[in-house]
Amino acid sequence: RSFLSHCSLVSRPPYIPNRIDDPSYVRIFDTTLRDGEQSPGATMTSKQKLAIACQLAHLGVDIIEAGFPASSPDDLDAVRSIAIEVGNNPDENGYAPVICGLARCNKADIDAAWEAVRHAMRPRVHTFIATSEIHMKYKLRKSRAEVVRIASEMVAYARSLGCEDVEFSPEDAGRSDREFLYHVLAEVIKAGATTVNIPDTVGYTLPSEFGRLIADINANTRGIENVIISTHCQNDLGLATANTLAGAYSGARQLEVTVNGIGERAGNASLEEVVMAIKCRKELMGGLHTGINIKHIVMASKMVAEYSGLHVQPHKAIVGANAFAHESGIHQDGMLKNKSTYEIISPEDIGLTRSNESGIVLGKLSGRHALRSRLLEFGYDINGKELDDIFKRFKEVAEKKKHVTDADIEALISDEIFQT
Ligand code: KIV
Repeated sequence: RSFLSHCSLVSRPPYIPNRIDDPSYVRIFDTTLRDGEQSPGATMTSKQKLAIACQLAHLGVDIIEAGFPASSPDDLDAVRSIAIEVGNNPDENGYAPVICGLARCNKADIDAAWEAVRHAMRPRVHTFIATSEIHMKYKLRKSRAEVVRIASEMVAYARSLGCEDVEFSPEDAGRSDREFLYHVLAEVIKAGATTVNIPDTVGYTLPSEFGRLIADINANTRGIENVIISTHCQNDLGLATANTLAGAYSGARQLEVTVNGIGERAGNASLEEVVMAIKCRKELMGGLHTGINIKHIVMASKMVAEYSGLHVQPHKAIVGANAFAHESGIHQDGMLKNKSTYEIISPEDIGLTRSNESGIVLGKLSGRHALRSRLLEFGYDINGKELDDIFKRFKEVAEKKKHVTDADIEALISDEIFQT
């Protein structure tokens, strides 16, 4: 099976004009091809990265972080071809996603990133340097003053190359001193940063804490009203999605995510979880909305799983194989009466076609209602004593097997017909 044939840009969802000016619009910045590719063993070929970038454009992602061009000549080439083919290929409304390349705060990295992305209609350089005491002391071996100087000089350097869209990240912001953080951010904004991204690099913060951090940055950083605040939450404590939502609620208008939540160590906030939570709980999220065309979510998930080799756990929210499967008798009975009893999202809306209409998986916890409904799908309207008999034998089979398959059901039906 190859997904490469799905790489067609013509049917991309229209870019919503003026959405940048809409205070409730949340930009989705996808870093599957950069942070996602940093998952151990997830290296992808340039062709695969290009195909995923096409799918991200279909999905309506606002910014695609296509790679880390200074990391290798291959990555620079991959980012350049995404900039040319996806970022320079406007839809019918004249819009194409922003194509972004990551760079440490040094000239060589920034040159490589700019060389790779500059071919896009809307190129962005994303530069970062650590601001926590732990990182500055042990990793960078630099003082606070040196870090502030390097950060602002490198943002200004990226702007001087002709790049109008520069994102800055204070790495390990979640563990950085607040007053120092406000100062670094104010200085990079003065130097020309257009987005300031707040990474919880080691996934250490709790949702209330991360939400407070974003609100405090918004309230205390000079010049912040002129830029977009972004979140980048790692998943070390399993809180990446919750922290990202807390950040959005507190004023972040760009959210950095990956498809299937892949990324360094325990991964990143997952695109599908963040987008669907904002959509499903729109009122509670203060009316926030994204431009994601959710019917392409399942295809994007399958593609990323196949190309990265990182398979999705069955119980993964939104895109796991069991996310819309119902096993217990009580749940199956509810589903057969009304799907809203146990489903908050229609799987069809995110592009999932399930093998049977109610997502019912027959197993040892299933009840008579579920079995009868499955028999009806096979064309057998069975009731009364016949149903009692077949249900008894079904339970015997189900005790021995994890799942009762269609072939098992057919065998039960023919046994019943044969015996009566
Ligand atoms: O986790 C992190 O801090 C990052 C930054 C480069 C945004 O990936």
